[in-house]
This record gives sequence, structure tokens and C-alpha cells, in this order.
Amino acid sequence: MQTSDLVEVMVIENANYDFPWTQGIFKDCIKAGYTLRALRLEGTLVGYGVMQIGANEAHILNLCIDKPYSRQGYARFLLALLLDLAQRAGAHTAFLEARPSVPRAISLYQRAGFNEVGLRPDYYDSHNGREDAIVMAKSLTP
Ligand SMILES: CC(C)(COP(=O)(O)OP(=O)(O)OC[C@H]1O[C@@H](n2cnc3c(N)ncnc32)[C@H](O)[C@@H]1OP(=O)(O)O)[C@@H](O)C(=O)NCCC(=O)NCCS
Repeated sequence: MQTSDLVEVMVIENANYDFPWTQGIFKDCIKAGYTLRALRLEGTLVGYGVMQIGANEAHILNLCIDKPYSRQGYARFLLALLLDLAQRAGAHTAFLEARPSVPRAISLYQRAGFNEVGLRPDYYDSHNGREDAIVMAKSLTP
């Protein structure tokens, strides 16, 4: 993902999250040298992933597939790609936070081998106050 992708990224981000990232957050991630990938299907942006790697740990910060392309394996593909990049970069463990109110995301991560390792109370904004985050982890060592 490059800065030139961000107009399209923001359309998908705003359409698929109740509490979307701002364009500035994506710009900061690009500037900071995070691992960002845009998934295009014959030129059309269908989704993206953002990951931070450091100190032998990978942190998946955002993974999104646009609704019209859902349930076709694109998230599974993008997640596998990110985990492969993390492993090649020397990460031993991948972490992410997920909302309990989005069971499809939790199911995606469980099926990819992530386990629940903790809870961050009141981590997210929500329409009814705050929402906890489920912390999930997957070992990347063979
Ligand atoms: C969650 C999300 C990334 C799934 O993307 P997707 O491309 O539809 O997912 P895939 O087709 O690759 O499905 C992979 C697995 O995810 C789970 N899954 C995806 N959609 C699901 C649904 N509607 N209901 C239940 N499980 C679902 C299933 O385990 C599925 O495996 P299966 O098809 O073998 O049952 C997508 O819905 C999305 O971007 N949502 C909005 C943003 C978001 O919440 N991102 C997660 C941030 S933590």
C-alpha cells in the first residue's frame, strides 16, 4: 500500500468499520515503515492489511476486505501473506486485537491458528460506551 492508494483505502475503511481509522493513521503507518499490503483484483482494491514488526513480534493492526468481496477467502489469503512476511522478517509470534462483537473476525483468526491469550478492558470505542479487545496470538516458529 502506498500513499496513492489511500483515497480508495479510505472508501473501504469507512464502509466496513463503525469506527474507521483516519487517513492520517494510514499515512503514519506508511511513514513509520510498517508492513502494508493492498489486495487488488484486476486493478480494483478489495482489501488491505497493516502490520507492525519489531522485537521478534508481529502485530496485525488492520485487516479489511470490502463487503462485496467477502466470504471468498481473501482475508484468509491476506492474513497468510502477512504471517509469511512476518516469519521471513524473523518474528516469532504474531499478535492482534479483535472485537468480541465481530465473531466473523474471531473465527477467521481462530481458523488461521490464533488463540485467545488475554483481554484488554475498554480498548475500543463502541456505540454503547467502550468495548473490550480480545488479544490473540499465534506462534510463527516452526
Ligand atoms: C472479517 C473479514 C476480514 C473477513 O473477510 P473475508 O474475506 O470475508 O473472509 P474469508 O472469506 O477469507 O473467510 C475466512 C474465514 O473467516 C471467517 N468468516 C468470514 N466471514 C464470516 C462470516 N460472515 N460469518 C462467519 N465466519 C466468517 C470464517 O472462519 C472463514 O472461513 P470459512 O469460509 O472456511 O468458514 C471481513 O469481513 C472484514 O473486513 N470485516 C470488516 C473489518 C473487520 O472487522 N476486520 C477485522 C478486524 S479485527
